[in-house]
Amino acid sequence: MTAFSTCILAWYDKHARVLPWRQPVGRGLPDSYAVWVSEIMLQQTRVETVIPYFERWLRQFPTVQALADAPEQRVLSAWEGLGYYSRARNLHKAARLIVSEYGGQLPAEPAELRKLPGIGRYTASAIASIAFGLDVATLDGNLKRVFARVFDVSQPADSPAGEEILWALAERHVPAGRAGDYNQALMDLGATICLPKNPLCLLCPLNVLCKARALGIQEQRPQMKPKPLVPHKLKGAAVIVRDGMTLLRQRPADGLLGGLWEFPAAELDADSPEALAAAIEAEYRLKVSPLARLTEVRHAYTHFKLTEIPWRCELLHLPADAGLEWVPLDRLAEYPMGKVDRAIAKNVPNGGSLM
Ligand code: ADE
Repeated sequence: MTAFSTCILAWYDKHARVLPWRQPVGRGLPDSYAVWVSEIMLQQTRVETVIPYFERWLRQFPTVQALADAPEQRVLSAWEGLGYYSRARNLHKAARLIVSEYGGQLPAEPAELRKLPGIGRYTASAIASIAFGLDVATLDGNLKRVFARVFDVSQPADSPAGEEILWALAERHVPAGRAGDYNQALMDLGATICLPKNPLCLLCPLNVLCKARALGIQEQRPQMKPKPLVPHKLKGAAVIVRDGMTLLRQRPADGLLGGLWEFPAAELDADSPEALAAAIEAEYRLKVSPLARLTEVRHAYTHFKLTEIPWRCELLHLPADAGLEWVPLDRLAEYPMGKVDRAIAKNVPNGGSLM
């Protein structure tokens, strides 16, 4: 064992966070299905946010088989609020493959795990080490930060050269027989001590080894490539209510928010009722007359920022092939939606109770 792994494991033995996906079930290792679900949920999402979703998910879909058997709509509803919905669709597809190709058991080898949708290099290594005890390193954003600081890596952590150096460091220090603890110790350290801003170096078990700290440049590591500016989009949505129902469309299965439901909406070139009516007609051949501007909703996606302005509209003409469905207002909760449309749904004026 290297000094690095000795220090981080000794710290983990005292300070490991107690997390529901870490409960051992056999041979001291946690359940591989639970580890897989947790690793997918934890991509781009914080531990505190994930815990209630994870616990609900395991009650709703306790095994790979239960997930494989579930209809997609239930899977998307269970995911609602976590964002990045392709993660949920991939979990579902992968569960069906695990049942059909692997007898319902997750494979242990990273190369096999990576054949499953939604499992890349990071997740495959995390599952193989944590759930199956294999001696493999992993590397996510938190771990990159720890290695870039302790070993003062100046190459951008999001460049091929930087990634290669950081993976090699992670691999060099894997302690035989304890890779899962090593990986999770680094995840905990990155989340609680080696913070992006104001790291708590005085509490860090690696502080005497940390080169960036010795140089006083912790906050300049990891170095990142310059970020392109994210564009800002303006959209308008038509909220059409008739006889206790509203018109929704289901998004195509692939792509952003695939399979989720939304109010008919279109990109606007101006914040005006005329622009909304024209954009909705161009997109759906649906003719509406905007009546009242409702509360606007803002959201930051990975590649753009969005401001969406819902308008309560009168329906003038609905072509049969507009791809829209009438949905009862008191059943909107059953239709999985992204954050923006759920916020609009909660504000739909229906003259009655909703959700
Ligand atoms: N982030 C990603 N995977 C994690 C894990 N297993 N424990 C804590 N945080 C994590």
